[in-house]
Amino acid sequence: MAKIEWKAGNMLYPLPAVLVTSKSAEGQADVCTVAWCGTVCTNPPMLSISLRPSRKTYENITETGVFVVNVPGEDLARATDYCGVRSGKNEDKFSAMNLTQESAAHIDCPMLAEAPVSIECRVRKTEELGSHTMFIADVLAVHVEDSFVDDKGGFHFSDCRPLVYSHGEYCGLGKAYGTFGWSVRKKKGTLPAKKKGQKR
Ligand SMILES: Cc1cc2nc3c(=O)[nH]c(=O)nc-3n(C[C@H](O)[C@H](O)[C@H](O)COP(=O)(O)O)c2cc1C
Repeated sequence: MAKIEWKAGNMLYPLPAVLVTSKSAEGQADVCTVAWCGTVCTNPPMLSISLRPSRKTYENITETGVFVVNVPGEDLARATDYCGVRSGKNEDKFSAMNLTQESAAHIDCPMLAEAPVSIECRVRKTEELGSHTMFIADVLAVHVEDSFVDDKGGFHFSDCRPLVYSHGEYCGLGKAYGTFGWSVRKKKGTLPAKKKGQKR
């Protein structure tokens, strides 16, 4: 196997394609697709989104300091693409895509009722990086669709069928190969993992 050196660029995929909801200071809500996003700290829980200043969503977040990251399911693939190619400056994307706003618990900003996961965020830090400005935010609360939570309170994230963005394509999650730590977990009747250089 040989690798070809490519010019520097963005090639870290797959990523979640999230729907960020926001509201202007005048109270106009918007929803916009964002793939440049990620978890940046476990405790306190924090995430980041990076936006071009030309986005209506950028203006809204700059004005209010809050936003909601909504994780779409595969059923929202078309709406996710649409909200990423049309601007709230020119139209109401909620009506265009039949999306429903619902109130957040901690901030004055709509969440997306159709998304199985909605994460309320408040901006802590803003970093102008170049083409994009990164909003680093505290997670204030996480809302999950109750049908994906079992009797013991366990949340079955994969069952939401989250939408994934991979180098220009919208995809599903695909097959699960294991769970966290399974590679070193001892199972009855199986040999422990081989150490480097160890012969069997
Ligand atoms: C899959 C996908 C991912 C996107 N990711 C980002 C992103 O991370 N940051 C960004 O500024 N724009 C991103 N965009 C573009 C915006 O979603 C698009 O410009 C949108 O029209 C902005 O809407 P607004 O003006 O209502 O905020 C993405 C678009 C698509 C289709």
